[in-house]
Amino acid sequence: MLVTGISGFLGRHLLDASEIGDWELLSPSKAVLDVRQRARVLDDIKTWTPNVVVHLAYRRDDRETIVDGTRHVAEAAAAAGSRLIHLSTDVVFAGRDRPYREDDTPDGESSYGRWKATAEQLVLRAGGNSLIIRTSLLYGTDHQSPIQRDVAEVLAGRSEMRFFTDEYRCPAHAGDLAAAIVALADRPEVTGILHVAGPRRLSRADLARAFAARMDGRSAELTTCSINESGMSRLANVVLDCSLANSLGIQCRSVEDALR
Ligand SMILES: NC(=O)c1ccc[n+]([C@@H]2O[C@H](COP(=O)([O-])OP(=O)(O)OC[C@H]3O[C@@H](n4cnc5c(N)ncnc54)[C@H](OP(=O)(O)O)[C@@H]3O)[C@@H](O)[C@H]2O)c1
Repeated sequence: MLVTGISGFLGRHLLDASEIGDWELLSPSKAVLDVRQRARVLDDIKTWTPNVVVHLAYRRDDRETIVDGTRHVAEAAAAAGSRLIHLSTDVVFAGRDRPYREDDTPDGESSYGRWKATAEQLVLRAGGNSLIIRTSLLYGTDHQSPIQRDVAEVLAGRSEMRFFTDEYRCPAHAGDLAAAIVALADRPEVTGILHVAGPRRLSRADLARAFAARMDGRSAELTTCSINESGMSRLANVVLDCSLANSLGIQCRSVEDALR
């Protein structure tokens, strides 16, 4: 198994996944395999011919890494006959009052969401055996995600960030997602797009309170506000319908269970 972006948040959870020990793991750093370099990606993946490529590498603000990098990895995996597992995001959607299924058309408005939607299309067009996993906000218990670091900064008195009461997502523990990735690596019959996220929608404010309660029980010290009050433009309600994944035995814990 070759993994891009192993030093990132999800990559660290993949390294921790107990089932990963069954795989011979190749995990080149960005310095060794920069996904923006097409020839290098094609050459290396052809040389290594891994059974599976797990593509985690991305930079939120960089179209070249997200779009071109994914095109290179997808073409290389297809040419080498490697199964590709590509990570995508609920942000490909703009938000609405009912859950999104895998076959809903992406309509996200942010640059990141549009680039990730384009990357999905490139994976599907590359023609190899591939699976696109769309997930939601990730968090951890051994490693902290950006929103957990935001909460820690507020509790330490170093930030006055406010958390939205009306931005709803389906947060997933990155360890659960990592276990799902490893399980799905071995299931080449599962292809296309799959939603793998937490079982319940939660507001960013409630999620932040759950982290604060686990950190030191001072959740009441967090300041919350509505998206309108902040004057920002944010996704309001992006809920992924994960029933297809559930029917395959793939399930993420609720935040309550995962933090217990
Ligand atoms: N975290 C979330 O809440 C979340 C939610 C939904 C979907 N996702 C998706 O999950 C995937 C992994 O996210 P993450 O949170 O683990 O990301 P992350 O923590 O930001 O890590 C990104 C990884 O990509 C590497 N990278 C960046 N540019 C690269 C390049 N040009 N070539 C090769 N490697 C490069 C980074 O290496 P360096 O550290 O050396 O730069 C790092 O290892 C992404 O596809 C993301 O869209 C994440």
